[in-house]
Amino acid sequence: MAHFFATVLPGLEYVLENEIRYKIADAKRVTLERGKVFFTSSLPVGALMVLRTADNLYRLIHRFRVGPHKIHLAGIEQEISRLELSWLYGNRSGPVSFKVNASRMGKHTYSRFEAAEAAARGISKREARYRHEKAGTHEVEFRLDICHEEAVFALKLTDASFRYRKEARSFTRAALRPTIAHALVWLSKPEAMDVFVDPCCGSGTIVSERLAYPYFQIKGGDLSEEAVASAVENVGFHDRVEIRRWDARRLPIDAGYADKIVTNLPFGRQISTDEDIATLYQAVFKEMKRVLKKNGFAFCLTDANAALQTAAEQIGFSWCKETTLSLKGLHPSIYLLKKQ
Ligand SMILES: C[S@@+](CC[C@H](N)C(=O)[O-])C[C@H]1O[C@@H](n2cnc3c(N)ncnc32)[C@H](O)[C@@H]1O
Repeated sequence: MAHFFATVLPGLEYVLENEIRYKIADAKRVTLERGKVFFTSSLPVGALMVLRTADNLYRLIHRFRVGPHKIHLAGIEQEISRLELSWLYGNRSGPVSFKVNASRMGKHTYSRFEAAEAAARGISKREARYRHEKAGTHEVEFRLDICHEEAVFALKLTDASFRYRKEARSFTRAALRPTIAHALVWLSKPEAMDVFVDPCCGSGTIVSERLAYPYFQIKGGDLSEEAVASAVENVGFHDRVEIRRWDARRLPIDAGYADKIVTNLPFGRQISTDEDIATLYQAVFKEMKRVLKKNGFAFCLTDANAALQTAAEQIGFSWCKETTLSLKGLHPSIYLLKKQ
């Protein structure tokens, strides 16, 4: 069993935990920390790439205690120099370039850069062919997270193409990260017979993530022509998937047609109409309630909490706040709205 962890946007740890338990058949010792989910598995690394809520995957190498002062940097170096690292590039001869990224939380008299340097010295001491590459390209990336008195040392298994998806995408101004879009999709419990709608689809990130699972029909639309063009390009052509320009306040969809709605509502400066946000949400929710089947539901992401809650109550959805995210200084929440 190897030890791994996945990084995830704070607030979505429990969604990723659920995805790991569902998709990684032999996952054990699944534990959560802020922004991370740890687990063990004997599956090859390639089999872990199915985790779409994760931002990055790491192989956990070592956890150890660290001191708070500069003299304790020698301890980091020593601890890492004792680790078995030859498995990384077992039979390969010749130098391997590496980089160490470090983070630090708590009171220490050294910086994260000094901690990274200490770790790099430890790695090179252990494996002479591992060459520290401070700038420029590197073949291997290690990560050292120091949280108060504990250090986590790991090997990075993924690059940016993992979380931004391999296929080329065009992102509009308000585009959602694919990993967050996936978390919303995963919360909706995708099923093969789903009729799935994103009424404010923007560049189509949520629709693209929904395509990872079987569906019956998917419809997405947006008021902005530019967003629709971008969504059409990003989503591509698929049977039973329709992307078109529409106004979410007057959806061209029959009453009682949709099982699930998942959407990232416009908020803040993203509002593209002259209505205020409360009026817009009220009109959109009225339409969402009309097009949903009985017992259908919607997952909505927004930071306009008061507007969402007021509109949900006025329209007669039962609602609850699922989780709040920590995203570049913003704190949008995911809401579940149910039609009874
Ligand atoms: C937060 S963005 C969605 C971003 C999208 N999830 C993505 O990844 O690109 C909100 C979207 O709502 C759209 N919008 C605003 N008012 C709308 C309306 N009345 N009907 C349909 N879409 C609307 C905006 O044009 C914008 O693209």
